[in-house]
Amino acid sequence: MSSDSNPSRDAGSGDEKTQNADPPKASIVVDGREHEYPVIVGSEGEHAIDTRKFRSQTGYITYDEGYGNTGSCQSEITFIDGEKGVLRHRGYPIEQLAEKSTFMETAYLIIYGELPTDDELTSFRQHVRENANLHEDMRHHFQGFPPDSHPMAVLSAMLNAVGCYHPQMSRNNREEELARFQEAATLLISKVRTIAATTYRMSQGLPAVYPRRDLRYVENFLHMMFSDPYEPYETPKEVFEALDLFLLLHADHEQNCSTSTVRMVASGGANLFASVAAGVCALWGPLHGGANAAVIRMLESIHRDGDDGSRFIKDAKEGKARLMGFGHRVYKNYDPRAKIFGEAAERMLKALGREDPLLDIARHLEEAALKDEYFVERKLYPNVDFYSGLVLKAIGIPVNMFTVMFAIGRMPGWIANWKEIAESSKRIHRPRQIYTGKNARDYVPVEKRG
Ligand SMILES: CC(C)(COP(=O)(O)OP(=O)(O)OC[C@H]1O[C@@H](n2cnc3c(N)ncnc32)[C@H](O)[C@@H]1OP(=O)(O)O)[C@@H](O)C(=O)NCCC(=O)NCCS
Repeated sequence: MSSDSNPSRDAGSGDEKTQNADPPKASIVVDGREHEYPVIVGSEGEHAIDTRKFRSQTGYITYDEGYGNTGSCQSEITFIDGEKGVLRHRGYPIEQLAEKSTFMETAYLIIYGELPTDDELTSFRQHVRENANLHEDMRHHFQGFPPDSHPMAVLSAMLNAVGCYHPQMSRNNREEELARFQEAATLLISKVRTIAATTYRMSQGLPAVYPRRDLRYVENFLHMMFSDPYEPYETPKEVFEALDLFLLLHADHEQNCSTSTVRMVASGGANLFASVAAGVCALWGPLHGGANAAVIRMLESIHRDGDDGSRFIKDAKEGKARLMGFGHRVYKNYDPRAKIFGEAAERMLKALGREDPLLDIARHLEEAALKDEYFVERKLYPNVDFYSGLVLKAIGIPVNMFTVMFAIGRMPGWIANWKEIAESSKRIHRPRQIYTGKNARDYVPVEKRG
């Protein structure tokens, strides 16, 4: 296989495409015959061979289990350069957004493509505020779940249920849904938080707390989680800042497992509610959004065993355990979100005067792993989940709600990705496979089997 353009992945080398007079091409030789394919160059100089005609021309398919080399779409939302630890939303570096923006503003940016004006942000916040309540009948749905149901199962089911209360946004009619997109987007960003808090209250046998119009997004969530009729919850400044930052840092992350799921489901024409409900299910697993809870369970078990992390590292190297919160399919450098959140976690825990022995274990694990040949060789660095669980724990969020918190944060990304699919008239996502099962054979009647 050869390519006539230099696919160096320098972030910011976007001028390359303008320097090349001829559009770049790649050729692939199959069974002695050369086939030429166009090369697609992204706005940051990323190169991809466009193999859409490969099968019809050669009879072959490309095989890439886990999609490590496969671009499934072209997207304008988020850019990651995993080798350099770069993450940008709509061109804005995550470090600047984390320092200067808020979750609400970043959500707007991710969904609509530009930072909002003052009026736009006010109106966005207003819509989110107005949509916080759930239809009263939905309370019965919560009661239908066993009290120890996992909150991710409840969240996925309830997001689909919300769609049932808004049929004009969930009839799988693209034109109708795009016309009401803003309403659906703010409704979901708002209600996901109410569903999460109500699920928690129900699981504790506590009465549901209704949202308040005077509170900001994060405060309102904590109010619905922790207020009692006789004692309203007051959000400490440090908690507000840490949770807003947590949500902002999770707002989108390119073609991860759950976002690709949302796009896959949307590509079949499914509505926004159904698509994000599927995203929640994909997020649930411990290799994806479930990792933040797995990190705390790992740290607790290390603590219980009286280990400082050294024994655990040894086990991880021998393949007996996995260091949760470490490693990433795309980042082969420090996950920039982990760097930002690690520092914020330390600041918040200090300001609140919370001492958590798990933080010391986490620091020790990080230090040991970053020096260890096994982790260095495989380019395994802490990811965003490594410290986020410690912050959620300090706020009082139960461990089985951690992935739900991730889902609240990721909602803008899922919505923006659904919109990209809904606005394009692209084909349904439908990968191929290599069949490795039995060859054709004749049906055997039951009396002749065994
Ligand atoms: C994120 C993750 C799923 C990426 O997986 P991936 O890109 O498929 O990477 P692989 O599983 O192929 O790992 C490559 C090598 O590193 C090792 N490795 C990867 N993550 C590891 C970890 N967390 N602890 C110990 N070893 C790890 C693998 O065993 C493999 O070693 P080998 O080459 O000797 O077989 C993986 O790193 C992981 O399971 N991390 C822990 C879970 C987690 O934190 N997930 C949240 C992601 S944001």
